[in-house]
Amino acid sequence: MTKAVVTGGCGFIGSNLVDRLVEMGWEVCVIDNNPSSGHVNGQASYLIADICEIDHYYRKVFENADYVFHLAAEVRIQDCIKNPELAIKTNVLGTHNMLKQARKAGVKRFIFSSTAAIYGSGFRLGAIKEDTPSDCLNPYSITKFTGEQLCKMYSDLYSLETVVFRYFNVYGKRQHSQGQYAPVMGVFNRQISAGEPLTVVGDGIQTRDYINVSDVVSANILFSKQIAEFKGDIFNIGTGKRTSILDLVEMLGGKDAEYCNLPPREGEVKHSLADIDKAKSFGWNPQINLEEWINEQGNSL
Ligand SMILES: NC(=O)c1ccc[n+]([C@@H]2O[C@H](COP(=O)([O-])OP(=O)(O)OC[C@H]3O[C@@H](n4cnc5c(N)ncnc54)[C@H](O)[C@@H]3O)[C@@H](O)[C@H]2O)c1
Repeated sequence: MTKAVVTGGCGFIGSNLVDRLVEMGWEVCVIDNNPSSGHVNGQASYLIADICEIDHYYRKVFENADYVFHLAAEVRIQDCIKNPELAIKTNVLGTHNMLKQARKAGVKRFIFSSTAAIYGSGFRLGAIKEDTPSDCLNPYSITKFTGEQLCKMYSDLYSLETVVFRYFNVYGKRQHSQGQYAPVMGVFNRQISAGEPLTVVGDGIQTRDYINVSDVVSANILFSKQIAEFKGDIFNIGTGKRTSILDLVEMLGGKDAEYCNLPPREGEVKHSLADIDKAKSFGWNPQINLEEWINEQGNSL
């Protein structure tokens, strides 16, 4: 039986990945330090632990593992800004620790969830390719970028195969909706449910590339099975389609949706669009259309 370790497997993307791997009949071991805030699959096993712990108890979890999907991270940008040490500890030391365990266990491939935040806020209307120079603006993107470099180093120095995904704006089942900096779709859903006007940051003409979590999961699975050799290769994971915040207001709330504008956030990216040709050349193709998905969810969003 194929065995996978999924770090951060109780979170939004990780729990969707765990469900799919379990459905495929894989043995799945999750490492997560906060299962209470997320989703638990009864057919996976769980180690409640911090990825920064350098401890012998990881040996058993990684033993005979074929693949490691590393998603655990300090993802809250504002918390990373307030507490850069936490970001460095979790996203750099924690990632290194997982790479080290993967190497020791001799896994076939280590798949790292990174972020399009690495591209920064430079004004670009066109799609961003993977070789665009990084422009890390905060501890979150700096530490994820360092995680990418560690993946490359483990491939080059220690022959551990690694793949890096730069996700754009992920939405879908179990997306977060709480907190001032929750992803905009989660915030809009919460506001619609509460009968409140939608809050648009800035003028709302800023655009994002929204990718469904189901397509993100498919990318992880497809690249774990690829025959090619990967040495820290980076792949954008988006749709290559742009959607403005005002488009999203209309898709979610209808043509007459009420909204109010909040002051723009300093340093926020105006346009973010993925060039996904590289991932497509390996057979990955996003399947889910944002507007159709929203319409299918109806009131259950
Ligand atoms: N959601 C997005 O739009 C998006 C975009 C770009 C990149 N990403 C990346 O995808 C990954 C998953 O993101 P998500 O949206 O599912 O986040 P999430 O917060 O829902 O999940 C992260 C999980 O990691 C766990 N975790 C955090 N610190 C840990 C630690 N020290 N030890 C063990 N577990 C720990 C948390 O408990 C949580 O369950 C992250 O690496 C993130 O950087 C997400």
